[in-house]
Amino acid sequence: MAFVKACALSELEDDTPKRVELDGVPVSVVRTEGEVYAINDICSHANVSLSEGEVEDCMIECWLHGSSFDLRTGKPSGLPATRPVPVYPVKIEGDDVLVSVTQES
Ligand code: FES
Repeated sequence: MAFVKACALSELEDDTPKRVELDGVPVSVVRTEGEVYAINDICSHANVSLSEGEVEDCMIECWLHGSSFDLRTGKPSGLPATRPVPVYPVKIEGDDVLVSVTQES
């Protein structure tokens, strides 16, 4: 599983998603509650960027219709989204946030 640098840890603000593109995959990188998570940036309900939504209680909310996705599992907490969003393994090395989009966790 290949990890690539997504961004610097120091540029992530708590609960403020950062959108990056890794190997052509749009990814939202989120630092919250002392951890860093990587979730596919596209809502499973429609083509909306999750990084434009709010983060709370380890969930990221899609601003369009309000489904929230668990940053640890990608599962939606409620309608209208019914399918999970892929989440990806994250490694921290020094100030580098590394993400592997080649295999979903
Ligand atoms: S587009 Fe995300 S919940 Fe509808």
